[in-house]
Amino acid sequence: MTNRPTTVTITGGGGQIGYALMFRIAAGDMLGPDVPVRLRLLEIPHGMRSAEGAALELQDCAFPLLREIEITDDPLTAFDGTHIAMLVGARPRSAGMERADLLAANAGIFGPQGAAIGAVADDDVRVVVVGNPANTNALIAAASAGPDVPVERFTALTRLDHNRAVGQLAETLQVGAGEIADVVIWGNHSATQFPDVSHAILPDGMPVLEALAERLGGRDAATAWLDDVFIPRVAKRGAEIIEVRGSSSVASAANAAIDHVRDEQLGTRRGMTSAAVVSHGEYGVPEGLVCSFPVISRGDGYEVVEGLDLDERARQRVAASVDELVAERDAVRALGVL
Ligand code: NAD
Ligand code: LMR
Repeated sequence: MTNRPTTVTITGGGGQIGYALMFRIAAGDMLGPDVPVRLRLLEIPHGMRSAEGAALELQDCAFPLLREIEITDDPLTAFDGTHIAMLVGARPRSAGMERADLLAANAGIFGPQGAAIGAVADDDVRVVVVGNPANTNALIAAASAGPDVPVERFTALTRLDHNRAVGQLAETLQVGAGEIADVVIWGNHSATQFPDVSHAILPDGMPVLEALAERLGGRDAATAWLDDVFIPRVAKRGAEIIEVRGSSSVASAANAAIDHVRDEQLGTRRGMTSAAVVSHGEYGVPEGLVCSFPVISRGDGYEVVEGLDLDERARQRVAASVDELVAERDAVRALGVL
């Protein structure tokens, strides 16, 4: 029996992350080896030729799972009946642009896209926002979709931050990345985020904090490494990539978006992961903010893992990032968007 094709819409399909995403999705890396895919690429007129070129290359790969590629600059066509919407295209910050200008420019993109999703997407649509500022763009899209799409369907990507944290720990502990479970990213996809290892474990159940103390010469040395090296490195990794590469992360961002959707659709495998989801007040985060939390999925969307202990310092770090999300939400409200 052949599975029904899943329709996946990528906005910014002519851009860098779009290019890195579409070949892996068409190869089955996101939805599995048995699920045929219909790809829709949404672009603005300026990006259409680039998306068209990518589509030619997709055809030349002869992927058995790829059933159709459609390129459009019309959101209603792009999201018509879509099952998975990956909102990547965004207005980048340009020289001299204030944060409020950036939020306003992106509200002009994510508002209409959210409305189009509400109007024409599949009843069970899932949306992940990658384009920055990702959490607040997701908030805008969710608010614009209207009552037909539950807000839980809208998420923003912090899996890249999660994977970055795991990568740093794996290198320091000299273990495979797959051996580290239960790392958590809290807050905003920005330098205020809190990468938290206090619940993380290795396969034998050994807490990562203990393994770090063993490796680095005691608890105090481990705490100093976490505060002075690990947390700033992970939180500012996006800027580090921009400085070294000359442009922002692409393949790692696409990989994280694929991890995010795969786990949401097929279920998390070992322990918790991180995703920004709409708060229902968990851990005291104001309702309605799109905030990164510890999450699991049973194959039907992400749910927040509740009841984790946070010490006073951790609570302060989470609060600082949540304050930034509140400020972004208030700036968008002041524009009359929410
Ligand atoms: P890019 O400039 O290469 O591509 C963006 C594409 O979006 C362009 O082709 C542009 O024409 C298109 N676009 C702009 N407005 C659009 C609209 N209204 N509808 C459809 N398409 C539109 O950028 P990129 O490297 O692919 O990055 C995309 C976004 O992802 C940026 O905002 C970047 O900051 C963000 N990002 C997020 C993460 C994360 O972890 N959340 C990581 C890396 C990058
Ligand atoms: C990233 O995390 O790589 C992106 O969000 C780019 C950035 O500005 O940090």
